[in-house]
Amino acid sequence: MTSKNRTDQWAGPAIETAGLVKTFGDNRAVDGVDLRIEAGTVYGLLGPNGAGKTTTVRMLATLLRPDGGEAHVFGHDVVREADAVRTRVSLTGQYASVDEDLTGTENLVLLARLTGHSKKASYDRAAQLLDAFGLSEAAARQVKNYSGGMRRRIDIAASILNTPDLLFLDEPTTGLDPRSRNQVWEIVRAVVAQGTTVLLTTQYLDEADQLAARIAVIDKGKVIAEGTKGELKASVGAGAVHVRLRDAHQRPDAERLLRQALDADIQLEPDPVALTARVGNGSSNGAGAAEKASRALAELAHAGITVDNFSLGQPSLDEVFLALTGKSDHAETSPQPPTKQAQQQTKEATA
Ligand SMILES: Nc1ncnc2c1ncn2[C@@H]1O[C@H](COP(=O)(O)OP(=O)(O)OP(=O)(O)O)[C@@H](O)[C@H]1O
Ligand SMILES: [Mg+2]
Repeated sequence: MTSKNRTDQWAGPAIETAGLVKTFGDNRAVDGVDLRIEAGTVYGLLGPNGAGKTTTVRMLATLLRPDGGEAHVFGHDVVREADAVRTRVSLTGQYASVDEDLTGTENLVLLARLTGHSKKASYDRAAQLLDAFGLSEAAARQVKNYSGGMRRRIDIAASILNTPDLLFLDEPTTGLDPRSRNQVWEIVRAVVAQGTTVLLTTQYLDEADQLAARIAVIDKGKVIAEGTKGELKASVGAGAVHVRLRDAHQRPDAERLLRQALDADIQLEPDPVALTARVGNGSSNGAGAAEKASRALAELAHAGITVDNFSLGQPSLDEVFLALTGKSDHAETSPQPPTKQAQQQTKEATA
């Protein structure tokens, strides 16, 4: 079955949608989504709760019928050729694919048998997957007794049993501890290395950052930004130098020096001892920025300005999301004006 999929002649994108719409009553959950996802890549669909991620995935996986627009998976229309799509995709995440009462081995063997493997091949494949997913010790235990992280891993193991051409991972690491998240990330990388295309939905900006070659940011059913993570980051500046001074009175001097040394816009933070320099867009991939930043620090020291704290960072995808939507990913009520505490500090500093 796998080999048949692999020799498929389709050379176009794994997924292509045009004006995809899904409404629930008055709610346009997916509101005209255009996507193009190249085969063999991880594509991130990033957005907050209720953005329309799962609804999009369910339409692409033929579980939900679109109300408008079109979607093709490996060239097959998800409505008219749903069967052809189904043979190529696998879905995991917010859906149970395994039987809680069966053991890890039993689940995988059952699935392998159902998809036409011989008894021996099924046991071999199950053992191989359990080993790869660090579940060998739990192989004989009922899945209902697995921890959350183990459960997520057996879900993914089940969904890649037959090496699908396209794997949907709907929030595969929500609620997992950092170690389990890392394990899932490793698995995703291994799956992609075998040629599978992955559509990953996530609310975690760092997850999309870690895994996805391209990312669509979606909010209220619409794609509000799309590109490589580099492009998304560049849209808010290549990087930021954060500086905290010992003495607020030295900030005007520091501002002038940093502007010259870094050739950057300097932002005065609400905190009266803090400044941020947005290091310009373009090719500098951190190395150039770091060199410039250390030279700037030396100049500050030379001018007798004491720096308490200093950091150089790429903008996080969180900052990208904030820049795009005007609100932070997690908080609806992200206060843009200075906080009370910062205003208080400003007053103290100017008193
Ligand atoms: N079966 C349904 N019936 C009615 N409304 C629905 C249904 N499924 C989703 N919605 C609504 O559609 C919108 C998008 O939901 P969706 O589940 O696609 O969001 P999501 O991006 O996956 O969010 P989350 O990160 O919380 O999983 C939400 O307003 C949701 O309430
Ligand atoms: Mg969802």
